[in-house]
Amino acid sequence: MKNSVTPRHTLLVVDDEPFILTAIERLFRDEQIKVRTAASGEEALTCLADEEVAVILTDNCMTGMSGLELLNRTKKIAPQTVRLMMTGYADLQMVLTAINEGEVYRFIVKPWHNQELITMVMEALNRYQLMRALQSSSELTLRSLAQTIELKDVYTRGHCDRVAHYALLLAEALDFSADRRKLMRHGCWLHDCGKIGIPGAILNKQGRLSRTEYDLVKQHPLWGLKVAEEAGLHQVVLDIIVGHHERLDGSGYPHGRRGAAIPLEARIAAIADVYDALTTDRSYRPCFSHATARDIMDKERASSFDADLLDLFWSLVVEPYPLTNNEQTEQKIR
Ligand SMILES: [Fe+2]
Repeated sequence: MKNSVTPRHTLLVVDDEPFILTAIERLFRDEQIKVRTAASGEEALTCLADEEVAVILTDNCMTGMSGLELLNRTKKIAPQTVRLMMTGYADLQMVLTAINEGEVYRFIVKPWHNQELITMVMEALNRYQLMRALQSSSELTLRSLAQTIELKDVYTRGHCDRVAHYALLLAEALDFSADRRKLMRHGCWLHDCGKIGIPGAILNKQGRLSRTEYDLVKQHPLWGLKVAEEAGLHQVVLDIIVGHHERLDGSGYPHGRRGAAIPLEARIAAIADVYDALTTDRSYRPCFSHATARDIMDKERASSFDADLLDLFWSLVVEPYPLTNNEQTEQKIR
């Protein structure tokens, strides 16, 4: 699984059985990551003190320090490191408790399927990257993070910028303060950050998604919320990430909130998000004109959208925000 993980992040594998370490090292030879190995918890702690580790993957049942104790200590000395565990069936209950208590991000049961292990590690690396970027206070980093997420879905280039543009038109018309507008911009850039956890094959699938695939896609606001919360982002940004697919009548996801229970910023982002989705090409249909998009959205006036906000939106937006030259070229060659 080749993906967008930046080269040379470190995966630390811990097991007291040398053949396991060798097998995992070999497994990741072709991936863009650096693998370090440790034969015990104590050795792993030395590695963690030595260099920044993106992901730690440890066996639980080792002589000396157990994997769980190691991960517990890792959480304190390297909280940014994503913690994974290999375990036997006998330890399942313990691992589930550890996941619930935030000690372990994910686990895999021995003996594992290679592809399953690679997928778990690469997803953990994605999560590490996402968390590091979210913790940055630089607008440049946040925006480039949004663009990295867009790269997973070839049909959404420029989407985050355009959603921010439309949402800010509404925010200005509503006299939001400069600080609140800045938070709205960040929230709109990052609204789909949870999509980093959805396989590209699903995001770019031609035709309809299966029920299971759609259920997976519907998790992205919650995944985004979880990681953004952990990164300590502002409530306005969290509201947009988790609330941009909520609908006024409660038919949205992930919580099915209704009316004013959906924060204003999320109601604004929802209008901007849907308008941009309708007026740009998708894998399953070409873009709609402004007039058609307006008709479609007006039909859901008051059921899906905040009617007053929608009226204000139509008074501000009379045509889609132009795509950049690059985006136009990409649309032509698709
Ligand atoms: Fe979304």
